[in-house]
Amino acid sequence: KLLTVSILGLAIAAGSAHARDYDHVRFGVDVPYEPMEYRTPEGELTGFDIDLGNALCEEIGITCEWIEQEWDGIIPGLLSRNYDAIMSSMTINDERRETVLFSEPYITPPSAWFAPADSDLEETTEETLEGKTIGVQRGTLQDNYVTDMYGDVASVSRYSTADDMVLDMQAQRLDIVFLDFPVGKSTLLDSESRDYKVVGETITEPKEYFGDGFGIAFRPRDEALADRFNEALATLQEDGTYDEIFERYFGE
Ligand code: ARG
Repeated sequence: KLLTVSILGLAIAAGSAHARDYDHVRFGVDVPYEPMEYRTPEGELTGFDIDLGNALCEEIGITCEWIEQEWDGIIPGLLSRNYDAIMSSMTINDERRETVLFSEPYITPPSAWFAPADSDLEETTEETLEGKTIGVQRGTLQDNYVTDMYGDVASVSRYSTADDMVLDMQAQRLDIVFLDFPVGKSTLLDSESRDYKVVGETITEPKEYFGDGFGIAFRPRDEALADRFNEALATLQEDGTYDEIFERYFGE
């Protein structure tokens, strides 16, 4: 009897080890989110997440593929196996930790408020934002924060893509938007269309909302896969590859 049990145990161990042994990883990603993930005018997928993700796969010795998915359904898509991981500027936080397994953080940018340069908004208190229209991407931590903090005094416009939000900002349909700092910098501050400014300080607290940096999300059972990515990340951070990719998108 003991023998049967241990053989069964071995079979189960071998079976699950095999199930988790990826040689090809499909990443779910919500595009565009410039400079993190976007398409060049020629249509090529590029950005910090894309280059880092590809470099990690190369370091691990697996191939990878990018599958586009709107933000709103990005965790359900992972859990229903449309792809094997999410690399899409996803902030690590406790709420998401209940459903997915995160890698170590690979970058930790703040959030920030962006308004037209000539806006009279100088700070973001409940008083100054009263009656204003605030833009956020639906289902982001910025959506949660703005809804909880300002939902009663301001009107919150939620967009399925960050791009639609930026377009409405440029069309002057929004007073202010709240998003990951690098994305506001690239799509508003550095854009040629009009002049924009950051309102107030960049924001990283409280942690319940702003979490612990961006991580790659995996299905909870894929610990072995997450470990391989963590190891590869540490290697790229040591050998200069990470810095090179960082410079490509955030260097001056
Ligand atoms: N960092 C924010 C969050 O995790 C927003 C990320 C949105 N990413 C994207 N590719 N649209 O909630």
